[in-house]
Parts: sequence; C-alpha cells; structure tokens
Amino acid sequence: MATPKAIVGVLSIGQMGFGVAKLLLAHGFHVITNVGDRSFATQERAKSASIECASSDSELVAKADYILSIVPPRDAKATAERILNIFNHEVDPRTGKKEQLYYADLNAVSPETARNISELFQQEPRCKIRFIDGGIIGGPPSPTPDTGGWKRPGIPMSGPHPLSDAPIAGRELADTLNTRYLNADIGTASGLKCTFAALSKGFTALALQSFTTAASLGVLPELQDYISEYNPSAKVRAEKGVTGCPPKAYRWVEEMNQIGQCFELEGGWPASANVFRSVASVYEQLAVTVEERGGAEGMDELEGALSALTKSLKDGNDLPKIRID
Ligand SMILES: *[C@@H]1O[C@H](CO)[C@@H](O)[C@H](O)[C@H]1NC(C)=O
Repeated sequence: MATPKAIVGVLSIGQMGFGVAKLLLAHGFHVITNVGDRSFATQERAKSASIECASSDSELVAKADYILSIVPPRDAKATAERILNIFNHEVDPRTGKKEQLYYADLNAVSPETARNISELFQQEPRCKIRFIDGGIIGGPPSPTPDTGGWKRPGIPMSGPHPLSDAPIAGRELADTLNTRYLNADIGTASGLKCTFAALSKGFTALALQSFTTAASLGVLPELQDYISEYNPSAKVRAEKGVTGCPPKAYRWVEEMNQIGQCFELEGGWPASANVFRSVASVYEQLAVTVEERGGAEGMDELEGALSALTKSLKDGNDLPKIRID
C-alpha cells in the first residue's frame, strides 16, 4: 500500500463522519478514529471501511496529523476537552511528531462557542494544537458511480492557521475536503454555517407548524393544492424538509440554539426578536415525538410524520423535560 498522504483522525464516525472518512480514504489519506465507547455496529462499520480504530484518545493524538471534530453540536466542547485532556495528563503525547497537531472543529455551533473552544486549547500551554474553525454545508460525501467522482459538502474554514498551509499534505487535504478559507478569525466559518442552516432548517420548522396546523383544521390537502398552484417551489422543499428531519431533530435542537446565539451576538438581534430560540422548541417537540414512538420509522412520509406530530401535540406533550439524546 502506498504511504498515506497524512493521518487524519475523525471523531466521530456518525453519518457525516463516516462519509468524510470514506472520502479521505478514497483520496490516499489514512483515517483513524476511536470508537471504543461507541456501539458495536459503529465499530464494525469503521473496521469494514478500513478506518483504523485507536484503542484510546492518547493513541489517536499520538498518531494523527489532523483531527476533525464532527459530532452533534452539543458534544462539540466535550470532544475538544477529550483531546485537551490527553495533553494535561501525559508527558508528551506527541513524542516523535515534528509537526503540530491541527484540530478542526467542523460542528454546527455559534461563533462564540467556536471561540470558546479555541480558547480552551490556548489556555493550556502544553497543548500545542493549531485550531481551525469550520462548518459543513450539505449532506455527507458520497461517491457518484456514473462519473467516478464524489458529491461533497462544502466546508468553509477560518482562523489564523489555514489548512492549506499545513505542512503535511495540507493543500491536498483542503482540496479533498472542498474547503474554502474565509479569514483569520475564529468564528467566521461557524457563523457562515449558521446563516446557511437558518434558512433550510428554519423553513422546515415553519413547514412543520404550518402542516400540522392545517391537518388539525382538516385542510391539509387544500393547503397543498394552494401551495402547488401559488408557491410551487415551496412545496417540494417543505415536503422534503418535513419527511427528512424526524431522525435528525434531536441534533437540531442545539443547532437552532446556536443559530439563535449567532443572530443575537453577531447579528445584533435583540433576544426579543430571536426566532431561533422558538425554532429550537419546534424541533424539541419533534425529537420528543420520535423518542416516545421509539424511532422515526414511518415518519419518512408526510402522512406519517404529520400524524405522529399532531397526535403528540394533541396529547399535550407540551414541552418536554425528558432527555433528548
Ligand atoms: C463563552 O465563554 C464565556 C466566558 O467564559 C462565557 O461567559 C460564555 O457563556 C461562553 N459562551 C458559550 C456559548 O459557551
């Protein structure tokens, strides 16, 4: 086997992380992860794709040239702390490595969260990590068999250490990941991702409220007729959004809070105008519905999604105190 261009740690191997890992493997990078605490299915999935499974975070930190953090937004900080911990407790986890470790936070968080995570690393003098702020726009990478290429999401990045300047195949990694460098400030890339996601996920939340309300009034078919005739571009988007979001709703709750924070702190919108705090509670309602049913099965069709949500609203499962995970 040819020498890999670089060793890239991917935490963790969810849908997006797995897609990114496969994209990197197909382009001559070595991918390592630590799935020790994950389900058997995830471990098997990683192994079957030739992703190296480190036995500990220390091993991951010792081997990797890069770490990509790709986790649900609420786990972004804890994931950074996991890596930081390795530098706190061990002599020098990077013995034998000449180059500094790059850590790219690609999670859907607000600029302030991204800055706070970056500061965590800076506060620990022994932790020589180059932090990159990033966000992933679009779905997981997937091969396109007809062209032999890949369909890739876009990854805006920012911060003082451009990925393409990184010494170990940085330029190739930046190109393979379809990145775009914005500027030297931590937070810009996360903010750009927030402003993008606000439109797609915000619209879907409106569609959920609109459609369930029309269903309760008994006029959903008529609403759909009028949308088809007078707002046809909204029809496809709304239906695709509503049927696609149930299994992801639990992750989107925190993402919507982060967008709200971005609009407040970066956009200057007062808390009283903060639509995204409310959007978060729409997805919380949906996440609770999914959890109560024991899964999102059948909710990938409009009818199934709306009837489940309408029923849970009628039952008065008004906002939840239960764990969403
Ligand atoms: C970021 O850190 C500051 C200072 O510790 C804190 O006040 C703020 O709440 C944090 N923000 C987020 C989003 O974690």
